[in-house]
Amino acid sequence: MMFVQAAAALAAALHTGAAHAQLPEPTELVNQQHCMFCHTTDAPFLAPSFQQIAGRYRDKPDASAMLEQKLRHGGKAHWGDMAMPLPKDRGGPLSAEDAHTLVQWVLSQ
Ligand code: HEC
Repeated sequence: MMFVQAAAALAAALHTGAAHAQLPEPTELVNQQHCMFCHTTDAPFLAPSFQQIAGRYRDKPDASAMLEQKLRHGGKAHWGDMAMPLPKDRGGPLSAEDAHTLVQWVLSQ
């Protein structure tokens, strides 16, 4: 089922001529962690937009490991003065696997 969704998203992305394939949103995780409370896809709001983040890190080989670590354990701010809250303040603990899914999705935007 996941594969079918991914394939559909890929087909849609190719169809609109996007330069890269956007992964399907892991909606349950995104809701559980309230990502969209502070982020939007394309407009900086309380936090950098996911497109800005993707633009900054997509081509950096070590970035996804760093971001997964940061999503789970926090780290210093890279965009401004406000660091991102830790998982326990966002809705619950985040597994390594879920952090990976979220980061891959953000970087695909
Ligand atoms: C309470 C507000 C808030 C929530 C909720 C939130 N973020 Fe953030 N996020 C921020 C802020 C503020 C920054 C900028 C921090 C910085 O300067 O590094 C940020 C930065 C990021 C970055 C870039 C980090 C870096 O080092 O450049 C990623 C990736 C990210 N968020 C993903 C997510 C995901 C995925 C979720 C849901 C699991 C989420 N955020 C939920 C506020 C939030």
